[in-house]
Amino acid sequence: MSMERLDKILASQNLGSRRDAGAMIRRGVVAVNGSVVRKADYKVDTQSDEVTVNGEPLNFREFLYLMMNKPAGVLSASRDTRARTVVDLLPPEQRRRGLFPAGRLDRDTEGLLIITDDGAFAHRMLAPKSHVYKLYEAVLARPVVPEDIAAFENGVELKDRTCLPARLEVLEDGERPLVRVQIREGKFHQVKRMFLARGNEVLKLKRVQIGGLKLDEKLAPGAARELDKCERSAIFSQSSLSNIH
Ligand code: URA
Repeated sequence: MSMERLDKILASQNLGSRRDAGAMIRRGVVAVNGSVVRKADYKVDTQSDEVTVNGEPLNFREFLYLMMNKPAGVLSASRDTRARTVVDLLPPEQRRRGLFPAGRLDRDTEGLLIITDDGAFAHRMLAPKSHVYKLYEAVLARPVVPEDIAAFENGVELKDRTCLPARLEVLEDGERPLVRVQIREGKFHQVKRMFLARGNEVLKLKRVQIGGLKLDEKLAPGAARELDKCERSAIFSQSSLSNIH
């Protein structure tokens, strides 16, 4: 946890000197987590507290951690000269240099995407040895057979390698079943390739959970919001293949 004096934070935002900041604080225009604070030496947690001046949030955090509900048709990248990226979708107050998606989703894949500027955090989340499982919902072109479930459990054979054990579960049976897949690898087209290897095809793919962190269903496609400390640690809290229900 990184704590900093309130007047120092205001001064670091080019809102005047430490003295000017102290005067603003005493005037009662500065709030921390929604409550007015009138003490210049009030200690702010720079990673989780929200500071506002006249109701306007300050963007003073060392690192930013966002959850986006990625829509289909947008590229998982920071910048692209031709295509619209997930970073382009962020509102100006959330956009800042150095942000990148931690783990890519294909252009046509939707759902939970973490966007951050904390490289060490992203690395930890993506490293296979961290055992952070990702949960996807997929609509398939053909029904699932029991052998598919066993094959996922044993590691699907691709042309060039064998996948790590994964869990496949049918949510809605039928001609075009809705399934859930839990994997801990994030190789190129991982889920689509696993189903192709089983003679099936993914028609629609959505990531709904990373580790213990679920996609916030209140987030409209294309919208993003900050993760709080609990949500960030939830990513690492469920690091084994678990029963889905
Ligand atoms: N697997 C895929 O095939 N695509 C994604 O976008 C994510 C996982």
